[in-house]
Amino acid sequence: MGRNYKIGVIKGDGIGPEIVDEAVKVLDALSANMGFNLEYKEMLLGGAAIDETGVPLPQETIQGAKQCDAVLFGAIGGPKWDNLERHLRPESGLLGIRKEMGTFANLRPAIVYDELVNASTLKPNVVKGVDIMVVRELTGGIYFGQPRELLEDRAYNTMIYTKEEVIRIAKVAFEIAMKRDKRICSVDKANVLEVSQLWRETVEEVAKDYPEVELTHMYVDNAAMQLIREPKQFDVILTGNIFGDILSDAASMLSGSIGLLPSASTGLGVGIYEPIHGSAPDIAGQGIANPLATISSASMMLRYALGENEAADKIDEAIKKSLAKGYRTGDLSAYDAVEICSCSEIGDIIANYVCR
Ligand code: IPM
Ligand code: MG
Repeated sequence: MGRNYKIGVIKGDGIGPEIVDEAVKVLDALSANMGFNLEYKEMLLGGAAIDETGVPLPQETIQGAKQCDAVLFGAIGGPKWDNLERHLRPESGLLGIRKEMGTFANLRPAIVYDELVNASTLKPNVVKGVDIMVVRELTGGIYFGQPRELLEDRAYNTMIYTKEEVIRIAKVAFEIAMKRDKRICSVDKANVLEVSQLWRETVEEVAKDYPEVELTHMYVDNAAMQLIREPKQFDVILTGNIFGDILSDAASMLSGSIGLLPSASTGLGVGIYEPIHGSAPDIAGQGIANPLATISSASMMLRYALGENEAADKIDEAIKKSLAKGYRTGDLSAYDAVEICSCSEIGDIIANYVCR
């Protein structure tokens, strides 16, 4: 009896293994206390997969992931694999698994914790209360467009969106907006790009089914500026793959550290839950990485993939509590820190709090 879930675990490279271990520690503490059971299946992706199997995305990982209820993922990449051909690089593994799993909707919340308003490089009054959801299209656009080629003296990529792709991601954004402040800003470059023109017209069409939601449009250059100027004007930001990649990194700094922000990649089947940051090879293995983005991704996994909302709430509360108490990893050490903690100490603290 009880609720049993199968979780695919992809630790990846760099700090990936350290941060995922802490998220699993927290999940184990929760499941022991809340009457559900998690069965983990470890899988290879990225550099770790290249070293082991010669390819960044082994067939076994694709098959294994599809049989899980959700996949928890750390980070991939590092200098060791930088000189490989593009299709053999760790990044190709990540893009490949997103495509294989049909995770076209990437949800990237940018939340500023009250406890960390001083940690942002922006003034506290600008960032206090920021709560943005970036909805990034993840399996289309210039990342995947064909044709693409690197020639001797010329190289090209293609930015393509079909109407169908825009409709499905726009629907996700509108559904999310309905549960929030009912405001969407769709970000494009419609003054220059045909693909953005189609994007804009299509989002307008989808909007007709959601009369309660206020829809505005913004060019991506202006959006980058507005995110820094007055971030509180945004509720949901809906955008394509590459614009979303760039804007979500920018938005992460509102919160003070990219080490805080989680993401959920959802869509046609099994979702992938991962921090938005990279594998940070420069600090890998030192035990100083911030595991909160991954622990927070585990919370999104519990909520969106498993429907274990109470457990997710416990993680979110525990993170806030640990920040309020002044427990900080190195990236946040300059801000109201009471105690500088290692990666695993933060994991211990959160695991302890979620059991109370
Ligand atoms: C991200 C990352 C990836 C992306 C890279 C590692 C391929 O930057 O998840 O934002 O560009 O999507
Ligand atoms: Mg990125």
